[in-house]
Amino acid sequence: MKSKIVLLGPPGAGKGTQAEIMSNKLGFTRLSTGDMLREAVRNGTELGKKAKTYMDAGGLVPNEIIIGMMKEKIEGLSGAYLLDGYPRTIEQADALATIVDIDLAINIDVADEVLVDRLTKRRSCPKCNAVYHLANKPPKKAGICDACGAELYQRDDDKEETVKNRLAVYHKNTQPLIDYYRKKGVLTVIPSDGDINEIFETVKKAIQ
Ligand code: AP5
Repeated sequence: MKSKIVLLGPPGAGKGTQAEIMSNKLGFTRLSTGDMLREAVRNGTELGKKAKTYMDAGGLVPNEIIIGMMKEKIEGLSGAYLLDGYPRTIEQADALATIVDIDLAINIDVADEVLVDRLTKRRSCPKCNAVYHLANKPPKKAGICDACGAELYQRDDDKEETVKNRLAVYHKNTQPLIDYYRKKGVLTVIPSDGDINEIFETVKKAIQ
C-alpha cells in the first residue's frame, strides 16, 4: 500500500473531500495547508496575518513561508500520510523531495466550469474541517456539521471573483506539477465528475 501521498487538483476538485474519507476509512494522517492557514488566520497568529492577504485575493502564500512550515510538520509525522494542497509550486515540490520520496501523486481532475458551482455552494466546518455542498452533499441539519455539531460557514475565498483568480493561479503555478510527478512515475489521474463514494473507490484502488 502506498503511504506517502500527494493530492493534486484545482480548487474545488474534491481534494479535501477525498482526504477526509481517506483519513476516516483508511487511517491516513492528513496535512492540509489550506486548513492550517485558515486556523492561523482564525487565531490571529503572525502566520495568519501574513497569509490572509494572499488567501483573500486567491493568490498563493509565498514559498518561503509555506516550505518551512511544512518541513517541520512532515518531519514530525510517522505512518501513512497524505498532503492536501502541498506542494503547489515546483519550488515546493523540490523542497518536499529533499525530505521524502512521494510514492503516489493523485491528480483529481475536473473541468473549470464545474468548479465555480462547487465552490460557491460549498460550506465548511471551522472546527473539524468537514466539507459540505448545498446540493451535492448537504448536512443532515441545515447549517450544522454532521460530524461535530459546529455551525458551518462559507469560506471568504469562495466568492465567484476570487474563485476565478484561484483557478488562474492554479493553471499557472500548480498544474505543472502534474508533469513533474508523471516524470517521476508516481502520477495517477482520477476524474472527479462522478459520485463522491465511487471516486473514493477509485482512489482506494490507486493506493493499493
Ligand atoms: P486550499 O484550502 O488548499 O484550497 P484549494 O486547493 O483551492 O482547494 P479547495 O479546498 O478549495 O478545494 P478541494 O479540492 O479541497 O475541494 P473540496 O473537497 O472542498 O487553499 C486555500 C488557500 O490557501 C490558497 O488559495 C492559498 O492562498 C493558500 N495555500 C494553501 N496551500 C498553499 C501552498 N501549498 N502554497 C501556497 N499557498 C497555499 O470540494 C469542493 C466542493 O465540491 C465541496 O462543496 C464538496 O462537497 C463538493 N464536491 C467534492 N467532490 C464532489 C463530487 N465528486 N461531486 C460533486 N460535488 C463534489
